[in-house]
Amino acid sequence: MRKNAFGPGRALDIALIGAALAVITYLHYATPPEQLAYHALYRAAYYLPVIYAGLRFGLAGGVVAPIVASLLYAPWVVLFIGRPEHGVLPAAVDVLILNGAGWMAGLLQEVGWRRRREALLYAEEQREAREELERRAGRIEEMNRELERRLSEKKELEEQVRRADKLAALGQLVAGVAHEIKNPLSVVRTTVQVMEREFAGDEHVAEFTRVIRDECDRVNARLTQFIGFGRPSEPAFADVDPHETIEATLAMLGRFLPEHRVTVEVEIEEDLPPVPADDSQLRQVLLNLIINAVEAMPNGGELTIGARRNRDVGVRRSHDDAGYVTFVVADTGPGIPEPDLARIFDPFYTTKPTGTGLGLAVAHRIVDAHGGFIEVESGPQGTTFRVSLPVAR
Ligand SMILES: Nc1ncnc2c1ncn2[C@@H]1O[C@H](COP(=O)(O)OP(=O)(O)OP(=O)(O)O)[C@@H](O)[C@H]1O
Ligand SMILES: [Mg+2]
Repeated sequence: MRKNAFGPGRALDIALIGAALAVITYLHYATPPEQLAYHALYRAAYYLPVIYAGLRFGLAGGVVAPIVASLLYAPWVVLFIGRPEHGVLPAAVDVLILNGAGWMAGLLQEVGWRRRREALLYAEEQREAREELERRAGRIEEMNRELERRLSEKKELEEQVRRADKLAALGQLVAGVAHEIKNPLSVVRTTVQVMEREFAGDEHVAEFTRVIRDECDRVNARLTQFIGFGRPSEPAFADVDPHETIEATLAMLGRFLPEHRVTVEVEIEEDLPPVPADDSQLRQVLLNLIINAVEAMPNGGELTIGARRNRDVGVRRSHDDAGYVTFVVADTGPGIPEPDLARIFDPFYTTKPTGTGLGLAVAHRIVDAHGGFIEVESGPQGTTFRVSLPVAR
């Protein structure tokens, strides 16, 4: 920074100072000694290169330049020593003052330079401190965001657990009640069968017994469903290829989708790892979701079914590197109103005239038993269900 303080070329400056000193000295020697006024002027002229040297080269310049000037001027003084009328004394004093002026110029310049260096250093420190502060602010902001994310994850996880607990408790109750009804129902069913045999040939009785038998069967089927929900069978885990499960589920649906004017988009990520799962239960989950999606699009629409690898599932970070495989079932239906979203997994919650409201509750229970998560996202563009199953058990 010091080098550039005074423009280019030190050599040029030295040459300039040297030339000035030389010219002034030459004028001293060329001018007759009695021309006192001229000599005084020349002595004053020495100040210019000397002060310039001090400004340009600091203390070094301020010391060296007046010494050089003094040495050049000294012989002239010596030549006229003993001739007081030529002002030897003022000349000597002048030489001293000239040296002093050079030193002062150099010294002041050095102080200026030091100040400037310090100011630049200070500015640099300030800049670094500011940057550090900004970095810290950024980190705090990042930590805040992370905290918020964790909090919402925690809330979601708690919600999932709460739902699972509620489903399990309700399931027990439902299964218990269903079981209690099943026994007398089978007595009724057997009695009707006996009546059918006893009154065989009586058209009238046959009409009644058929109705009773059919209704018994219908109720029995429902009760079996309830018990299935309440006491789901333990999953029989095996390595399941997500691709095959999705294909098999779609194959099971056959013409069901085209008949409902639903087009299917399949998006399965390449090279998905096998998932430890009960294949038939997993298919049941997908089937429930697909049927719901189709029912949500009575005038047809688009169904997206897919699977992809997921390291972090919305609610929870995978505790190992294996992560999750997430199955996605999305429709272009009208969506689920926000206040209803909290209830769709409740057993018997249905908005359909012939629905049991068990589809999602059963799906939830199956996913729970697999150590997975089921999530829903819904808006006017449609509804997306995501089922994430851990890759490692
Ligand atoms: N894809 C969807 N789009 C819009 N609403 C949905 C969707 N999936 C579920 N729902 C809502 O959630 C409710 C509960 O679904 P669930 O599958 O548990 O029962 P259901 O379909 O009504 O009856 P079931 O499955 O026993 O036939 C549905 O009645 C519907 O209101
Ligand atoms: Mg359903």
